Amino acid sequence: MTDQQTYNYKVVRQFSIMTIVWGIVGMLVGVLIAAQLAWPVLNFDIPWLTFGRLRPLHTNAVIFAFGGSALFATSYYVVQRTCHARLFSDGLAAFTFWGWQVIIVAAAITLPLGITTSKEYAELEWPIDILIALVWVAYAVVFFGTIIKRKIPHIYVANWFFGAFIITVAILHIFNSAAVPISLFKSYSAYAGVQDAMVQWWYGHNAVGFFLTAGFLGMMYYFVPKQAGRPVYSYRLSVVHFWALIFTYIWAGPHHLHYTALPDWAQSLGMIMSLILLAPSWGGMINGIMTLSGAWEKLRTDPVLRLLIVSISFYGMSTFEGPMMSIKTVNALSHYTDWTIGHVHSGALGWVALISMGSLYYLIPRLFDRELYSLKLVEVHFWTAAIGIVLYIASMWVAGIMQGLMWRATNADGTLTYSFVESVQAMHPYYIVRFLGGAFFLFGALVMAWNIWKTIAGAKPAVGSIPAPAAAH
Ligand code: HEM
Ligand code: HEM
Repeated sequence: MTDQQTYNYKVVRQFSIMTIVWGIVGMLVGVLIAAQLAWPVLNFDIPWLTFGRLRPLHTNAVIFAFGGSALFATSYYVVQRTCHARLFSDGLAAFTFWGWQVIIVAAAITLPLGITTSKEYAELEWPIDILIALVWVAYAVVFFGTIIKRKIPHIYVANWFFGAFIITVAILHIFNSAAVPISLFKSYSAYAGVQDAMVQWWYGHNAVGFFLTAGFLGMMYYFVPKQAGRPVYSYRLSVVHFWALIFTYIWAGPHHLHYTALPDWAQSLGMIMSLILLAPSWGGMINGIMTLSGAWEKLRTDPVLRLLIVSISFYGMSTFEGPMMSIKTVNALSHYTDWTIGHVHSGALGWVALISMGSLYYLIPRLFDRELYSLKLVEVHFWTAAIGIVLYIASMWVAGIMQGLMWRATNADGTLTYSFVESVQAMHPYYIVRFLGGAFFLFGALVMAWNIWKTIAGAKPAVGSIPAPAAAH
């Protein structure tokens, strides 16, 4: 029996394709809102197209539609391959695919209409939240059901990260979305005041930690060894990495609420836990990058491996920057500024998007039993993405620090040196550079889509018959 028959590749293929589709949609909206910040006339005075409504559409599209589809695709693939077992239930897996697509379409309709809970990254109203919970429970059943029916005793470390991501996101979503509905499209949070803020940022930060990090580390632990043809650098380090990361992340949420009504001790605890988080994060980064030890020369010839390794470097960079920004005195400058936006996108573009794209370049030829259409185009993608990220984050660092310094500058008599509008005006050139950076990144994604299209449509069946490298299963 071939791999195509043994395993459920159908749902993996579906999620893989939709990762690319939603990635392009989400990034297109990102480029549009970046342009709106540089040229406000692009709001067109049409409520549905204003920055305020499109911004949550962007975040939901890139995090949950693009990132989420990538996580479903890779976790379903990895759990089957490493457990030597077909998915627990084909029917439930199909339900997760179609359910997730319905949720995304519902988000794409309701957010531009202004229907929102106003909780960042949890904007969707209660009927959609209930559907998310149902799909997520089905996801957990499929994933853990497959682990239970595995044919080999060992549970490969990538599955630990995927498993923690699935369980934690379920808990975060259910607690943070608790609300009292007053109509089909409107509800009020079950929490009030500072408790609401704390629950929201416990959710928000762990959305970063578990949605945007743990699952993608699962990808790192499977696809980097595979593409490099080497075993993970240290299995022992990966186990320490897992437990230390999972334990520490969950405490760090209060760093989003520095200098607020949250008790001071909670803010300081959040800061300390964020500083500690540097250690497991870098342990993981070192484990990922060192997997290449003895095979560094492959970076010169393999652009897919380069995408993967550069993504891990960005992971290291953003997990150094984050702990620094969590220090209260640093946060006093960075909070509310574009520095945060720069940090977000060094993680989002550099880490999340690149590791997903690198994994898809490995995955799609195997799923469709084809050879990748063009490595040259992967090279083009790599460089346009790299240029795009650098333009984006460098412009936001400069803009952010400038904003922070302008806002706090005072004259000898204690009055403010700059009005707020002056700080907005000063941002104009940086917003143009960020727009260009985003356009480069989007162009790279379009090149990828073309390459994948040609791969699937093409007639170069080969990879399926090439034995996979003898790495982590
Ligand atoms: C072409 C690529 C992209 C462009 C041009 C872009 C642009 C933007 C812009 C203009 C904002 C609003 C900034 C503000 O309010 O000042 C934003 C916010 C955000 N974007 Fe992107 N983005 C891109 C890709 C991504 C990706 C791939 C992700 C995640 C995987 C992502 C995650 C976010 C998040 C989480 C925020 C909210 C940040 C915050 O509230 O601090 N973006 N993006
Ligand atoms: C050790 C790891 C990390 C720590 C300690 C950390 C810390 C921080 C801090 C202090 C802020 C600013 C909070 C504020 O002033 O409001 C922040 C914002 C943010 N970070 Fe990180 N970060 C880490 C890693 C990452 C990674 C890897 C990503 C993305 C993949 C990421 C995504 C975000 C997002 C989306 C926000 C904006 C949240 C918002 O206000 O909407 N972070 N982070």
